[in-house]
Amino acid sequence: MSSAPGNPEHRCRICGGRVTEFFDFGRQPLSDAFLEKPPADEFFYRLAVGSCASCTMVQLMEEVPRDRMFHAGYPYVSSGSSVMRDHFAKAAGRFLETELTGPDPFIVELGCNDGAMLRVVAEAGVRHLGVEPSGGVADLAAAKGVRVRKSFFEEAVAREIRAQDGPADVIYAANTLCHIPYLDSILRGVDALLGPDGVFVFEDPYFLDIVERASFDQIYDEHFYFFTVGSVRAAARPYGLELVDVERLPVHGGEARYTLARAGARTPAPAVAELLAEEQARELTAEATLAAFGARVERARERLVTLLTELKGQGRRVAGYGATAKSATVLNYCGIGPGLIPFICDSTEAKQGTVTPGSHIPVRGPEAFADPYPDYAVLFAWNHAAEIMAKETAFEQAGGKWITYVPEVRVV
Ligand code: SAM
Ligand code: TMP
Ligand code: ZN
Repeated sequence: MSSAPGNPEHRCRICGGRVTEFFDFGRQPLSDAFLEKPPADEFFYRLAVGSCASCTMVQLMEEVPRDRMFHAGYPYVSSGSSVMRDHFAKAAGRFLETELTGPDPFIVELGCNDGAMLRVVAEAGVRHLGVEPSGGVADLAAAKGVRVRKSFFEEAVAREIRAQDGPADVIYAANTLCHIPYLDSILRGVDALLGPDGVFVFEDPYFLDIVERASFDQIYDEHFYFFTVGSVRAAARPYGLELVDVERLPVHGGEARYTLARAGARTPAPAVAELLAEEQARELTAEATLAAFGARVERARERLVTLLTELKGQGRRVAGYGATAKSATVLNYCGIGPGLIPFICDSTEAKQGTVTPGSHIPVRGPEAFADPYPDYAVLFAWNHAAEIMAKETAFEQAGGKWITYVPEVRVV
């Protein structure tokens, strides 16, 4: 499961090539393991990231067993952001207009969560199935009229779905594929389930954006892979799948949406070669690029801790905004606890009344933010900045200031 730091024998989960580690965040808790009260035996693992010398896939050096992360108590709900609700409604609309126009179309979503996307498909009366292992959020989807199978998608499950429901016209996964180390089983499953002219569409944080913005908090237990056009193309090829389109998305701090089809079934769009050329020109996984990324991460830690320590010394009141999974990396890597950030507010009910994993900062509801407003708020949900700042204008009117750390530490 793990390798020693810098172990030259660490093998790529995709191609078996040699993976070279480029950053070690040290001991980290599970990013979504919010705690009722700090237990004596909290689970920790080593969070380190490396790049494969052969296929360029960027990946974690250690894998956390999937049942520890995705279970009935998994707290993340997709519909917590109005921007994301719109994003998924639009994605569903596009599938309904383009790919799901045949006589009895069928779409399968991996990691459908609370049904933010499939709800729209269900309302349109189109045949669908969500495959979602986390029971709590799967129940939320079912309550919206979504047909859900509570399981991890993998090859055997894909074969069962194919036998029961027939081939899929679309297989879709948002912020889910990068969570799955056993990508070989997923791609064999896609091969078994996808119709002859079907498409496998997935969107995940784009490594080019992560490097550009030094958004190091995208690296945590659930984000096992960090995809690029180059690495996705290489990973799909052995399974008879071809990358036929790619689109950059503004959501979640910069993502890419990849469209795969059976090799030769569709003509690749120019965007594939264009973005690949850009990745190559930027030398995204070259040693110097990754070392520069690491230096920016270390600088961010130093500046954030210095800033928060100074503000505390001046008697300023600081709160956190958004108890994101991403914040686990920031807080635990920087060693920030309730001494520097006394509480974090978050709109997710399941997170309220808990403490954050590892750093043990209390999480409160959004109403605590205004009671009274703090002087400074660290925006851990920086990927939702526009939505949150529009909602919290009274904070700024009261003299409050936002602190962000992507692409660098600054007071906004
Ligand atoms: N698609 C939603 C979105 O974009 O907001 C949810 C993303 S959430 C970060 C990742 C989801 O993937 C979780 O709901 C988790 O339970 C699910 N998941 C993890 N492994 C999976 C697998 N093997 N098959 C299907 N879903 C999986
Ligand atoms: P995410 O960055 O993984 O989508 O997580 C966003 C977190 O921020 C999630 O726990 C919900 C929370 N949040 C708020 O508290 N208020 C908001 O307005 C938004 C959009 C998110
Ligand atoms: Zn590889």
